[in-house]
Amino acid sequence: MGDWSEALTVGQVVTHEAEALTRTASATGSQVTSEAGASGGRYVQLSGTPATGAWVQFTLNVAEAGSYDLRLLYKSNTNRGIVQASVDGANQGSVCNQYAATATQQVACSLGNKALTAGNHTIRFTVTGKSASSTGFMVVFDQLALTATSGDPSACTATTLKEAAACKGRLIGTALEAPRLGETAYVNAAREFNYATPANEMKWDTIEPNQNQFSYGPADQVVNFATSNGMKIKGHTLVWHSQLPNWVNNMTNAASLRAAMTNHITKVMQRYKGKVHAWDVVNEAWGDTSPPTLRESVFKRVLGSSYIDDAFIAARAADPTAKLYYNDFATDGLSAKSNSVYSMVQSMKSRGIPIDGVGIQMHWRSVGSTLTAAEVVSNIQRLAALGVEVVISEMDVQLCRGGTLTDQQARYHDIVAACLSQATCPAVTIWGITDKYSWLNSRTDLGCTAGETPRPLLWDNNYGKKLAYTGVLDALLGR
Ligand code: XIL
Repeated sequence: MGDWSEALTVGQVVTHEAEALTRTASATGSQVTSEAGASGGRYVQLSGTPATGAWVQFTLNVAEAGSYDLRLLYKSNTNRGIVQASVDGANQGSVCNQYAATATQQVACSLGNKALTAGNHTIRFTVTGKSASSTGFMVVFDQLALTATSGDPSACTATTLKEAAACKGRLIGTALEAPRLGETAYVNAAREFNYATPANEMKWDTIEPNQNQFSYGPADQVVNFATSNGMKIKGHTLVWHSQLPNWVNNMTNAASLRAAMTNHITKVMQRYKGKVHAWDVVNEAWGDTSPPTLRESVFKRVLGSSYIDDAFIAARAADPTAKLYYNDFATDGLSAKSNSVYSMVQSMKSRGIPIDGVGIQMHWRSVGSTLTAAEVVSNIQRLAALGVEVVISEMDVQLCRGGTLTDQQARYHDIVAACLSQATCPAVTIWGITDKYSWLNSRTDLGCTAGETPRPLLWDNNYGKKLAYTGVLDALLGR
């Protein structure tokens, strides 16, 4: 698994047409034919009497070692046969005993999860019963589908973050700053990642400082660096109250602001179409009031809360291939604020507004906060149930107000492991590389004592790998 770009992708579905697989069958009590299906497709049919013991066995070639959810897609009407699957001789899943209303309708039988090495495996279906009303049995094998749920950790010999993440089919990201790309140590560490977010270069004040005058230079630098180092790119961010130029902040006319917002989204997204994998379309729309309300940004004040829907609709139109995310902080676990994000996404989904994911920023401390990894899992799960993925988008763990480097390592480990435990969490991004350049260094509200610094990242001021680095690597390796 040296070349991460060839790694298995979680969620990837490989479908095998049954009739195309090498197969054998029991000599008696069955009749196997490969026929044209009514839908124009072909299938393998197993039928006959008596209704127990007959079997058909397929040989499956698995290209990448990993864990897979196995499904049999079959057609079986009221003459149905009940089948038990076995993989490499061991029973797999419970019996398939569903049947379709018509002989041509496809029904899916889940056979559960199985770890498979690369290479050939046998999957055998043995008839264990039939419909009470029929004399014989018939099962029509249409397709076998394998959905990858994780790479094979035992096959992973990764020594870098990106190789380890690739073994799990995930993205491990960092925030990149264009002005640092001339620094060798910075660049070397950046190459540990397979995902990059420009820290500031795509923000409105940088990329469209004057109305309809775009300044793509800094963003291009980050995009070119990422692309030439095999990193995917997260676009950040299109609509946000901060780092917003005055010409936008001062707008009072709704039609003009709406047009300016749509133009901004359209131009920036089209510029990076095909290069940006996912966009933070709207950032930090929720305020920190109790109960939470939408932040009184110029967008909310002048356009009302519908600006969020409008931004996502414009974004989908500008680049239909990019994933569209809502991103926010203090929405990582279960809280009044994360409940607000959940309800907003639920409402957007129910109204058909195009949103694909939610970014939870994950700016935390290692000790003294109530956030737990279990809460993060619950939050990811409830959002996933709405049909969106969740990424950890800006993780850092500051050490002012307590916490040792070992506490920090544990926090990084547990949060990355929480993401990995969920197939719907494809990426973790750490907000920066070295403590030297952390955005938190200029913050005065962290509770650092005189001379103390937050030290929130994976590399120290001299580019030494910290325990936090080991925490992330261990989590990615499943340790
Ligand atoms: C930060 C950058 O890292 C800093 O360089 C900049 O001065 C301020 O913004 N939430 C976000 C990010 O969504 O865009 C912020 O990035 C950190 C908080």
